[in-house]
Amino acid sequence: IKNIGVLTSGGDSPGMNAAIRSVVRTSLYYDIQVTGIMRGFEGLIGEEFIPMNRKSVANIIQRGGTILKTARSDAFYTKEGRQKAYDNLKKNGIDALVVIGGEGTFTGANIFGKEFDIPVIGMPGTIDNDLIGTDFTIGYDTAINTVIDAVDKIRDTAESHDRLFIVEVMGKDSGLIALRSGIGVGAEAILIPESRTDVDQLFKRLASGRKDKASKIIIVAEGDEIGGFEITELIKEKFPNYDTRLSILGHIQRGGRPSCMDRVLASRLGVAAVEALLNGQKNMMVGLVNHNIHYTPFYNAVKHLSEADPRLLKIVNILSL
Ligand code: F6P
Repeated sequence: IKNIGVLTSGGDSPGMNAAIRSVVRTSLYYDIQVTGIMRGFEGLIGEEFIPMNRKSVANIIQRGGTILKTARSDAFYTKEGRQKAYDNLKKNGIDALVVIGGEGTFTGANIFGKEFDIPVIGMPGTIDNDLIGTDFTIGYDTAINTVIDAVDKIRDTAESHDRLFIVEVMGKDSGLIALRSGIGVGAEAILIPESRTDVDQLFKRLASGRKDKASKIIIVAEGDEIGGFEITELIKEKFPNYDTRLSILGHIQRGGRPSCMDRVLASRLGVAAVEALLNGQKNMMVGLVNHNIHYTPFYNAVKHLSEADPRLLKIVNILSL
């Protein structure tokens, strides 16, 4: 391998810059050239390539977002788009790819890697933590810390006004941001798509909750079947005496300086991604499972996680009383 192309694609996540830095510096360490591809698969098709050196990734480990920018590309889902992408890689002497992203990125990479003779390795970059084959994705730790920072602040005002707050968090169709951050903020209840929300049960819990407790926080994953708006309306109707508010955290969850955990994860996986290519691997996502580097074929990495960890769910039930 002489020249590795690196791109970030899909929703950005804190730690993507640390991941790019690791891929660039590891490639240079092994005397391989690196080319940055702007705007994900869009830039691959549009030939938006920039040569990278040690300096291009200086002073970025601490920055949120991605210096290579990102996009969701419809064109890459067409045969012509992928052919153009391949032709551009050949033309520029790029003979391997590292793609940093989530489900959509790996689905595209899987098709591409099978159609053409370009080895592709993926690094899990998404706040959602919804990939199989890694305990944590790059960005998840920062995102859940952003959520607990925000909800701690909401708790202050909830406590002062004796209010019930419903806080909706991101995660697409996964409840993993909600579950972990919900435990972290001591939420009274957590609503996630992986477990069916029994509204009557929730009402019972709210009604039988400690009367001396001034504030209540319910964390709802955006992918939950009921969702923030609806559950707020139902609670308002059932408990007209509660002072109830809805807060949707939105895109602040995607920004900010990456946590140390995300920087280290990104750094480790970047080294592993380049070394995987050197060892002849392709169509795999590199992840960390039980502290060890783990390779998962793209098609398995994107399989849907339908169950949340029952041990965490149990903790919510015990501690939220
Ligand atoms: O996949 C990351 C994510 O932030 C999800 O949690 C969320 O559903 C989605 O992206 C939002 O996408 P967009 O930035 O396109 O609104």
